[in-house]
Amino acid sequence: MSADRKDSHLALCLEEDVELPSGDATGFAGLRFDHDALPEVDRAAVSTGVELLGRRLAAPILVGAMTGGTERAGELNRRLALAAARCRVGFSLGSQRRMLRDPAARATFAVRDAAPDLPLLVGNVGAVQLGDGVGAREVIRLVQEVGCDAFAFHLNPLQEAIQPEGETRFAGLMARLRAVVPEVPVPVLLKEVGAGISETTALKIRELPVAGVETAGVGGTSFALVESLRTEDPVQRAAGRLFARWGIPTAESVAICRRVLPGRVVVASGGIRNGIEVAKALALGADAAALALPLLRAAERSAEAAAELIARTVEELRTAMFLTGCRTVADLRQRRLSRVRDLTAEA
Ligand SMILES: Cc1cc2nc3c(=O)[nH]c(=O)nc-3n(C[C@H](O)[C@H](O)[C@H](O)COP(=O)(O)O)c2cc1C
Repeated sequence: MSADRKDSHLALCLEEDVELPSGDATGFAGLRFDHDALPEVDRAAVSTGVELLGRRLAAPILVGAMTGGTERAGELNRRLALAAARCRVGFSLGSQRRMLRDPAARATFAVRDAAPDLPLLVGNVGAVQLGDGVGAREVIRLVQEVGCDAFAFHLNPLQEAIQPEGETRFAGLMARLRAVVPEVPVPVLLKEVGAGISETTALKIRELPVAGVETAGVGGTSFALVESLRTEDPVQRAAGRLFARWGIPTAESVAICRRVLPGRVVVASGGIRNGIEVAKALALGADAAALALPLLRAAERSAEAAAELIARTVEELRTAMFLTGCRTVADLRQRRLSRVRDLTAEA
């Protein structure tokens, strides 16, 4: 990824409207918990702590994969990592591809230098890079040079299709993943970037030796919109807008991944914006949830602002757990969600 491209993504995501227009694009608003007015648990006794990918977190939350590689990106990574460490939640790096050809870029990803007590650090590179000069040796380097606890390969065919310089050679990726994943010394996740993991994809992923997935479903940041704002080509621009809603809404993607991938980690992401949505994702079977764009915007202000947003989300999750009578996240994952429906229509 070129430095220019990374900085233009950052500028667009910080300054333009790159999320889907309001409405229930994620599918979470159409689901509700059974509110319990007699929860039989003290709010203070509710514990949001979990173990994820072998690491202990204060809440099932991660900072989503976003950035690194340029000076501005390095500073945002530092602030986000400080916020994650303070709140004892997970942190994901953006694509580390640049580290492979520019040794100076390492510093912008080496967040443990600033936040040594970060409980979970997830590395990242595009799966489509495999074969294009990136193999097991390079991925191992990316993991070791910054001390990752887990590593995510992103799957972004829609983004690449809209991007002017997009890499769309996706044929043969399954075989490359099958060969490289077992060589990676930490648990591996596969993630989308905003179009979601469908049942078709989840069934393929089931055949791969990965620890799990991150849904990054439809409903939040749209990379079709980001790329349509970035391109000068009117045809690509129109295509980006046309495909803005293409894909699987986050709530649906979480439910699919849980069903198709029993025993694997499912991280929910894509438009998750508050603790109620985190709670709903967990009730649908997710092990944790990641938030990207809102945390980037908060980190642009300060590390404190990002930490406050994480802390607020954790408190909202705690309240949702209290109101559904859950003492632990394991209890919450057993709770049922109903579809919001019009009762008068049934009368
Ligand atoms: C500025 C920006 C840069 C991103 N870069 C990456 C990346 O390098 N690798 C990746 O896997 N996902 C990347 N993403 C996608 C996010 O990890 C996430 O899947 C997506 O934004 C949906 O979550 P959200 O709606 O909470 O933003 C990026 C997102 C943003 C906003």
